[in-house]
Amino acid sequence: MKPHKNSINLTPQEFSDFRDFINVEIGLHLTSQKKSLVLHRLSSRIQELGLPGFKEYLSYVRSNTSGAENERQFLFDKITTHTTRFFRESKQFELLQERLLPDLIKAKAGTSTKKLTIWSAGCSTGEEAYTLAMVLEQFKRDQKAAFDYKITANDISRKVIQVARKGIYGRDVIRQIPKDYRKRYIQHGTGPFEAYVRVHPQVKRNITFHQNNLMNPASNPEFACDMILCRNTMIYFSRASRQQLINRFIGNLNKGGYLLTSFTESLHDIDSPLIQLSPSIYKLSDS
Ligand SMILES: C[S@@+](CC[C@H](N)C(=O)[O-])C[C@H]1O[C@@H](n2cnc3c(N)ncnc32)[C@H](O)[C@@H]1O
Repeated sequence: MKPHKNSINLTPQEFSDFRDFINVEIGLHLTSQKKSLVLHRLSSRIQELGLPGFKEYLSYVRSNTSGAENERQFLFDKITTHTTRFFRESKQFELLQERLLPDLIKAKAGTSTKKLTIWSAGCSTGEEAYTLAMVLEQFKRDQKAAFDYKITANDISRKVIQVARKGIYGRDVIRQIPKDYRKRYIQHGTGPFEAYVRVHPQVKRNITFHQNNLMNPASNPEFACDMILCRNTMIYFSRASRQQLINRFIGNLNKGGYLLTSFTESLHDIDSPLIQLSPSIYKLSDS
């Protein structure tokens, strides 16, 4: 007989230890309101593993024993929020076309490399990176602009990266995509794939997806970017983790480069040389 779900307890001390572990490992700050969510999401897993409770589960994920690395993966998948959609916060993509791209391309004009390097940090299932690529393709087309681009996208969750790499989504997503983009950059499945759409290979070709942890610089290759999108990811982080991540982004940004956050997050409590241009757009000075 399966044990009842509620037979696993989470004591204040266990929650506090668990919270510290998650914060150090992935930057996420679990408020005390998240205690029941943690219990709900992990109780059955702890039972499946045949462990008596959270204390033993935490020892296991902290250990170097075989399987612990996979379990950490499972845990990070479970504990993170992956909500996303195409053209999320669409005003930002309009500003990108109207102001940011012309500015970045103008700055590249005098250089030998006409390639924009963009990072989608905390990309979830890929919709953000694909939206970016569609907007860049459309901009190139409309403005007859000659430039290359490369988008690097990453997320800590293995599951979402697998989905992102495929670029295949349920048909419902097309409602999120403006009509002219849909026609050009989305392909409809037929026969057994009728319920699905996929992003056009032209949109996929300049994007690479990586599974890695933003809080572990060793797992991320160093590269210089013209623009970083880190939207709806740092909102779940502690202030110290956000500061650490922003420092890192500044190290990655080229002079004159942009950092885009979501409209609901602010860097008011973060020390940085970034100049705020609008509620979610920051620029690293050219000089
Ligand atoms: C809410 S989604 C946001 C997706 C997209 N940027 C958007 O705005 O629609 C946040 C993503 O950040 C990822 N994430 C959280 N902590 C992370 C970390 N330490 N390293 C890499 N990705 C992380 C989560 O797995 C999740 O997929």
